[in-house]
Amino acid sequence: MKVAVLGAAGGIGQALSLLLKLDLPAGTDLALYDLAPVTPGVAVDLSHIPTAVKVTGYGKEDLHTALAGADVVMIPAGMPRKPGMDRSDLFNINAGVVKTLAEAIVQQCPKALVGIITNPVNTTVAIAADVFKKAGTYDPRRLFGVTTLDVIRAETFVGELKGKNPTEVTVPVIGGHSGTTILPLLSQVAGVSFSDDEVASLTHRIQNAGTEVVEAKAGGGSATLSMGQAAARFCISLIKGLQGEKVTEYAYVEGNGEYARFFAQPITLGKNGVEALLPIGTLSAYEQKAMNDMLGTLKADITLGEEFVKNN
Ligand code: NAD
Ligand code: LMR
Repeated sequence: MKVAVLGAAGGIGQALSLLLKLDLPAGTDLALYDLAPVTPGVAVDLSHIPTAVKVTGYGKEDLHTALAGADVVMIPAGMPRKPGMDRSDLFNINAGVVKTLAEAIVQQCPKALVGIITNPVNTTVAIAADVFKKAGTYDPRRLFGVTTLDVIRAETFVGELKGKNPTEVTVPVIGGHSGTTILPLLSQVAGVSFSDDEVASLTHRIQNAGTEVVEAKAGGGSATLSMGQAAARFCISLIKGLQGEKVTEYAYVEGNGEYARFFAQPITLGKNGVEALLPIGTLSAYEQKAMNDMLGTLKADITLGEEFVKNN
């Protein structure tokens, strides 16, 4: 098994690579790629941790070698937000980054499972999909926008509010990964109930949790450590799926188009990536209105990505 991390020297990349060095199955090759000259050094640093995962670092010129034969590619490459910015403000820089990386995936590992972390996820996933489509290698079961951070945040905040161990709380989060497109389904949380005020304030907090971190870091970037953990969890689930286990996760995927071309929803992972699209269940009146209100934004974010590939 080979896992490649693109953007491996960044805040997320380093945290993710550390967790993967610790948690990937024995015998896995972990390939770290980044434009930053420190990347081979990050790999040497990690290689001193005594696990049976072989880490190799690749610099600027070695993208294709880093990707060759990868089974899973995780992409946290690109610019993070600063206070006052919206995720869509990252489009101008990150759209090109994702396009370049996706083009290299087409050549080196067209069958890899690809997890996109780079923002704006609502748009960058559409870019990767259409690069793959243009090249004739697109398989919607193998491309994921990583929205695990929304899920783990929701679980943390619900656990805090209700005095429960967050590891025992499950919160579905559907839609997309920015602002109101992030839709937690609090009505489906088992064993707890919420007042209308709690639903409104928790929903708002989950939707704005990224901004909470951006503001707290005061210009020093956005979530990296919690995202590293979220991405590692998702990557390990992808690997378990490839190894034949059936694992349920939430991710932003191209499903049956019922709500939008790409939509974060529950999925079962298996040997080919998405094995089954799971239903989102019954929404409360509050959630249904929030869904109706945000679909226009989500669809416009997707169109932006589609147009970018068409015009470039
Ligand atoms: P960072 O600046 O710390 O790291 C980004 C890394 O990407 C840098 O090391 C940079 O050299 C590298 N990079 C830039 N262009 C590249 C390219 N063409 N090829 C390879 N590497 C390249 O940023 P970060 O905090 O790690 O965030 C990375 C991205 O993840 C941002 O776009 C951020 O908005 C996004 N993010 C997404 C989520 C999510 O839930 N999906 C959560 C947090 C952050
Ligand atoms: C997050 O949710 O933390 C990320 O999307 C980063 C950001 O810009 O908020």
